[in-house]
Amino acid sequence: MKRKWWHDKVAYQIYPKSFLDTNGDGIGDLRGIISKLDYLKELGVDIIWLSPIYKSPFVDQGYDIADYYQIGEEFGTMEEFDELLAEAKKRGMYILMDLVVNHCSDQHEWFRQALKDPEGEYAQYFHFVKGKNGEAPSNYRSYFGGSAWEKVPGTDKYYLHMFAKEQPDFKWENPRLRKEIYQMINWWLDKGLAGFRVDAIINIKKDLDFPSFPADGPDGLASCVKMVEEVQGVGDYLEDMKRETFQKYDAFTVAEVFNMKEDELAEFIGEDGHFSTMFDFSAHELAQGESGWHNSRPVEFREWRDTIFASQKKLQEVGFPANIIENHDEPRGASRFLPEYAQNEAGKKMLGTTSFFLYGIPFIYQGQEIGMTNCRRSDISEYDDISTIDQYHEALRAGCTQEEALACCYANSRDNARTPMQWEAGENAGFTKGTPWLSVNPNYTKINVADQEERADSVLEFYKKLTALKKCPEYKETFTYGTFAPVYEASDSVFAYYRISEEGQKILVAGNYGTEACTLKLEGACRKVLLSNLGREAALQEEAETEGKITLGSCESAVLLLESVD
Ligand code: GLC
Repeated sequence: MKRKWWHDKVAYQIYPKSFLDTNGDGIGDLRGIISKLDYLKELGVDIIWLSPIYKSPFVDQGYDIADYYQIGEEFGTMEEFDELLAEAKKRGMYILMDLVVNHCSDQHEWFRQALKDPEGEYAQYFHFVKGKNGEAPSNYRSYFGGSAWEKVPGTDKYYLHMFAKEQPDFKWENPRLRKEIYQMINWWLDKGLAGFRVDAIINIKKDLDFPSFPADGPDGLASCVKMVEEVQGVGDYLEDMKRETFQKYDAFTVAEVFNMKEDELAEFIGEDGHFSTMFDFSAHELAQGESGWHNSRPVEFREWRDTIFASQKKLQEVGFPANIIENHDEPRGASRFLPEYAQNEAGKKMLGTTSFFLYGIPFIYQGQEIGMTNCRRSDISEYDDISTIDQYHEALRAGCTQEEALACCYANSRDNARTPMQWEAGENAGFTKGTPWLSVNPNYTKINVADQEERADSVLEFYKKLTALKKCPEYKETFTYGTFAPVYEASDSVFAYYRISEEGQKILVAGNYGTEACTLKLEGACRKVLLSNLGREAALQEEAETEGKITLGSCESAVLLLESVD
């Protein structure tokens, strides 16, 4: 594999709106991010991905962009953004922006022009399509519910929106549109950006016949995913974009890709693929319900572990994945992936351990490093997220009671991850001096940065150990490029794997997700216990040396250097 500058890095996702507010308007801002660069540096973060901070009406929290060249005034100014870039650079850190180019906001100048003149040049930037028999061109359901088509006022046409109706989809078939997008990307890269997280990118290719599909829900519609799954040729656009932009800058790109065709993996992230990497969502997809959150299901340990293992084995043959526990679209990992008895500091550290050393580049989502959790709400009005509100009503339509529908939101809502970052035990968790745009999780008095910085055994201090170990010169090669190989797979509670370098350095990573203690007979002598989530390095070392095994209690994890292999 060609070595890349970003392979051995640790990345961190900031959700700017909820990170830190310094001007009291209840919305996080760039000044807040700048003031926490040292916090992130100390955590061991190299690459920072910012969810969108562009000018936006926030129908979908900034994923509806009204101007790609402007910073949203809630977040600050372009000068402050430049300052952020400079301050990051001083600390040897890299900044990624979110690249949202499947769609824009209906407030974007192009779309306004398009509506003004539906036969004109800008209408060609979007999918303006004639209706069929007085109805929408096809029966697609948008990702956020309801038809994916909206009437273009005063015409017999409809425009396509795979997400909210305020997020019209671009027509990538139009070379002028593509050129404008490439120019914009290069403009940001020229500024000194290290790259992009690339949003919802699989959706850019449409079947221009817009065929309807058999209905898959009581609304008589069919998910727009069907079209995405069937249409061929997205790779042509992705390759074109890469050549015209990212490649020229050696930029780092991490793509959000769902519904890719299996055999396209190498084209996406193989050597010279369309992107540097893409997120592995295989574990997150397990919880997905057939037709919505109301029939989503709890993730069972063994299935979860085996899914990650299978994914790792496949991905390491092809490229270099990006690994997450959670992000701004997912509930908190500690609430989703840890059984109830493990939803404590030991469990969160164990989850951190077994995820962090997987093959690929780890992304920490803000608040994960202190073990933030899902947030229970007592009424749907306390939620902000467009998809949560849709799913709540979907659950009611499917026959759930209000209580059950709220329970679905508690388990699945994107707002679980979007509550303000918990900095301290004081009012509003130290996130704002005003009224937070989304109320804080009441558990901030117990789970917060200030407390954890004071406690050597906190989740936060443990995450610092994880990043330090991953970067330790003696093991870095193995953690970065070593082969991933699962072990102790017969166990129903152990999540364990080796990382083995080409030189034969062998590291065991293991966590016991069960309620009972378990014994792992070591395959090879233990050279050194590199990390224990319970501070039991010495005890584990002694057991390993004298008995050739380690015993992990419930919610205990360890990382061991074993004797090298040929
Ligand atoms: C991606 C984003 C999500 C957004 C959607 C539409 O999935 O992560 O937050 O709602 O794209 O842009």
